[in-house]
Amino acid sequence: RTTLRALAQPTGLRIGTAINTDELGSNARYDRIAARQFSSVTPENVMKWDAVEPQRGQFDYADADELIRFAKKNHQLVRGHTLVWYNQLPQWLVELGPSLTKKQATAILKQHVIDEVTHFKGRIWQWDVVNEAFEEDGTLRNSLWLQKIGPSYIEKAFRWAHEADPKALLFYNDYNIEYGGPKQDAAYALVKGLKKKGVPIDGVGFQTHLDTQYGIPDLETTMKKFAKLGLKTAETEVDVRTTLPVTPVEQSAQNAGYSETLQACLLVKACISYTVWGFGDEYSWIPGVFPGEGAADLYDENLVAKPQYTALQTVLRTA
Ligand code: G3I
Repeated sequence: RTTLRALAQPTGLRIGTAINTDELGSNARYDRIAARQFSSVTPENVMKWDAVEPQRGQFDYADADELIRFAKKNHQLVRGHTLVWYNQLPQWLVELGPSLTKKQATAILKQHVIDEVTHFKGRIWQWDVVNEAFEEDGTLRNSLWLQKIGPSYIEKAFRWAHEADPKALLFYNDYNIEYGGPKQDAAYALVKGLKKKGVPIDGVGFQTHLDTQYGIPDLETTMKKFAKLGLKTAETEVDVRTTLPVTPVEQSAQNAGYSETLQACLLVKACISYTVWGFGDEYSWIPGVFPGEGAADLYDENLVAKPQYTALQTVLRTA
């Protein structure tokens, strides 16, 4: 057997992917790859607040529930993504936000965390409780939650999530914390402080959205440093973009981006999952956000495996 999940199985490492539920159930090739290659799944969008509570008090968990069923059927674990974020908030909340008092904002956020975690109780392996709380300079992002509640919204969110599902592993998740610098330092200080206070946090998710022009971060050293705080780690949204069309040297840099980040996870005992942010270039978020870049995923537009995929197989064969 040569699928990623089969090759990884003896190591205990879960190999995951983000899932676009628009494809699920309507694209047989997509379903087959998702089921066969991966042992963990993350909803790319359908557990975000705008998806689950489009109108205030009206909940829509249908797409997320469909993914949960798919995961169960295929013996996959689920990473819940994401409870507290500045982005993809429902329109009603964006409109209401500015007028909220601290007390009201706290009540709304608490209700959301408790409602959603309770809905999925017992079915989520890891929750991204708080996502992307920092700016690049290491200051806290000026989100609705920071403005209205203050920095304590972070620890509150972890406590509420733990209350609602004590068995789920609770993660802080961010990007550009794979590289040393003020943002990584700030994330480290945050989680160290939370651990010290006894806040129920279990892990740190390194999103790992790489670009060949910025090089490959030393995730082995970084994840070991975070693990020393008594935390698990995960690579949660791996992709490696480059400028189009892909030259041979960019292709080899992409292969290295995937294989070195997977190797880092295998070398760090605390690293419990390696998740790619989707597997097909056709469905990638990258071209929409970085014009002229793409080809970031393991499979091409026709869902044919690319050299990045083979690179991951090679690493897993040595593990
Ligand atoms: O659902 C609406 C649809 O009703 C509308 O017609 C359509 C028109 O643009 O937009 C749809 O919403 C889009 C949504 O994805 C669902 O498809 C948004 O425009 C689009 O911005 C959104 O993009 C997502 C992005 O997060 C938003 O920030 C990407 O798919 C998703 O891959 C991306 O994922 C994030 C992680 O959650 C956090 N880390 C970074 C990562 C990449 O940005």
